[in-house]
Amino acid sequence: MSRVAEAPRLPPAYRLVARESVGSTNDEARDLARQGAEDGTLVWAREQSAGRGRQGREWSSPPGNLYMSLVLRPECPPREAVQLAFVAALGAAGMLGLHVPPLMPLRFKWPNDILLGPRKVAGILIEAEGQGETLDFMILGLGVNLVSHPAEARIPATDLKTDTGETVTPEEALEGFARHFMIWTNRWLDGGFAPIREAWLAHAAGLGERIEVRLPNETLAGTFADLDATGALLLDTERGRRTIAAGDVHLPGM
Ligand code: BTN
Repeated sequence: MSRVAEAPRLPPAYRLVARESVGSTNDEARDLARQGAEDGTLVWAREQSAGRGRQGREWSSPPGNLYMSLVLRPECPPREAVQLAFVAALGAAGMLGLHVPPLMPLRFKWPNDILLGPRKVAGILIEAEGQGETLDFMILGLGVNLVSHPAEARIPATDLKTDTGETVTPEEALEGFARHFMIWTNRWLDGGFAPIREAWLAHAAGLGERIEVRLPNETLAGTFADLDATGALLLDTERGRRTIAAGDVHLPGM
């Protein structure tokens, strides 16, 4: 691993660890966290050779896009800490919103995807370590397709340049995300999950519509009714309401 020459400027709450190339920034951040890295340590790489998505999927990671992972040590139980994925989605959308024209919709797809129009432009991968109700640390990984996207993906993908014509550098994207994530984290710390849930729901893809949710052993169909107070998806099925803490959402037409 070699260091990059010019580092982005981040608010003082972050400690930047900049790399040219790594396997996965989530792995680098996890290793640093195990060695005691403090809350706010942010690993950023120009490319990844083993970028990971949710459920062990590959995350295509050529140079030009944003790959970063943040060490977080929130003072709350794991079930609340996972709300930081929604906080991060709002932070990423805040950054993307600086570059996306007003009529081009940025939406959130439960639990951790960010869509530009009907296609995925960014994803979040949260990984945690701890014992039972005690969280040791959490790694919040974010990948944003700035200038390229994989042609073949489970969910159709896009990138910011393809859809807007604008070339945003990873440095600009990182600075924008860091600023917006801090603003939304402060809202979460001050007001709990309620303001986060409200902001996320205002841009939720498929809300009030028929969706499919794929679980490890079954696929459920129903209406995406709401998020509960913890961030679980509430699905109204023919057999009643289901509360879903983890799963893959499939939206009609995607
Ligand atoms: C998903 O949508 O499935 C989550 C994608 C998360 C990708 C980011 S890129 C930076 C960090 N390092 C990884 O290996 N994964 C996350």
